[in-house]
Amino acid sequence: MRGERSSGVASGELGFSQLALGSQKSNLIGFLTNLKEAKRLKMRAIAAFPGTEQPRLVDLPEPVSPESHQVLCRSLELGICGTDREILAAKSPLCPPGEDFLVLGHESLARVEEAGSAVEELAPGDLVVPVVRRPRPSRSPAAVRWRRRRVDLLPMQAYVERGIVRQHGFSSPYWLDEPRYLWKVPTEIADLAVLTEPLSVAAKAINEAQLLQEARLGQGAWQEHPPRVLITGLGPIAFAALVMARACRWPVWVWGRDEPDSSRAELVRDWGAQYLHGPVPQQVLKNVEEHGFDLMLDCTGAEEVVIRFAPAVASCGVIAWLGSRQQLQGPEVVITELIRVGLVRNHIHLGCVNAAPRDFQEALEVLQRLASTSRPLLKRLITHRVPLEQSLELFHRRPPQTIKVVVEF
Ligand code: BGC
Repeated sequence: MRGERSSGVASGELGFSQLALGSQKSNLIGFLTNLKEAKRLKMRAIAAFPGTEQPRLVDLPEPVSPESHQVLCRSLELGICGTDREILAAKSPLCPPGEDFLVLGHESLARVEEAGSAVEELAPGDLVVPVVRRPRPSRSPAAVRWRRRRVDLLPMQAYVERGIVRQHGFSSPYWLDEPRYLWKVPTEIADLAVLTEPLSVAAKAINEAQLLQEARLGQGAWQEHPPRVLITGLGPIAFAALVMARACRWPVWVWGRDEPDSSRAELVRDWGAQYLHGPVPQQVLKNVEEHGFDLMLDCTGAEEVVIRFAPAVASCGVIAWLGSRQQLQGPEVVITELIRVGLVRNHIHLGCVNAAPRDFQEALEVLQRLASTSRPLLKRLITHRVPLEQSLELFHRRPPQTIKVVVEF
């Protein structure tokens, strides 16, 4: 890219070399256009620094031309999620080696600007969503053993995650990547595809739970008897779980702290689920096999919520943990009943993080399928759209009734 104009740059936009040289157009309109473009193309990104909760804008170096096996991507949209806020709150981001900050952002929709000479799978103009996690290269005996493991199942020392674990993320206007970490997005879902990553995380929980159930209850276990799904929480992962569970046509209940007349509770109902508020319904606890749940997707990470709702899960139910909190939540926790009902009812407690390729593919397929029937409902998951400069505050704090905040480039 450096020194020549990218083949993918739309007409009217500037290549970096032109920016570096400054405007050569003599007329005023040209000058103003260039100024606007120059501002827009600045390599501004949002970064987390050790020792502070405040995210800051950083200026990164100009992107270089992709190597033969790489592509240069231009950010279009970026989703902000709870993990970004947790990284900031912890004040100790896992920076890339030798760097003193971590560029945030791991839910991205981008357009390929330039492709390396050996790249065949992607071409300039293609829309892509990147995966977050990648294996960390190593020749240790353990790493060799882990090579056969799916990337989402690797132990922490064996991977990096862009924008989260020791690799910069996608909140800069341009970034380099390899096609093997990018999923091509059909243009019909360009307006929804920024939701792919969180949907893939929910897809993983459902797919893993289903696999485990088939292993112990027999093939087609949840096809014959669709699981009654309880989702706890009202954040973006909870809504992602709601979309994926409804895409399976399973009956869903969502529990949250919002008042029943709030906009998020209304959206839950518009997705065809029931909204639960307050304590576990007595009817459920009295006859859990008849009225309880078969799959609980906890998206709160709150001990109190898991402890409260685990007894509402019927025998052979699965409780998937999709949320967690870093800070201790209380001096004492009593999990006696959770263990007792877990044992007597053969519950599975399933820790679930990241997503397998299978789950990304499914997230994209579900978006494509639902786009024709439920596009407005999907769009309501994006409650805020802001330019990069105005997003700092939202990386830090979540206004009431927020679901997904999207940064537009
Ligand atoms: C991301 C996952 C990631 C996890 C833990 C989540 O926000 O969606 O892809 O593995 O954080 O770092």
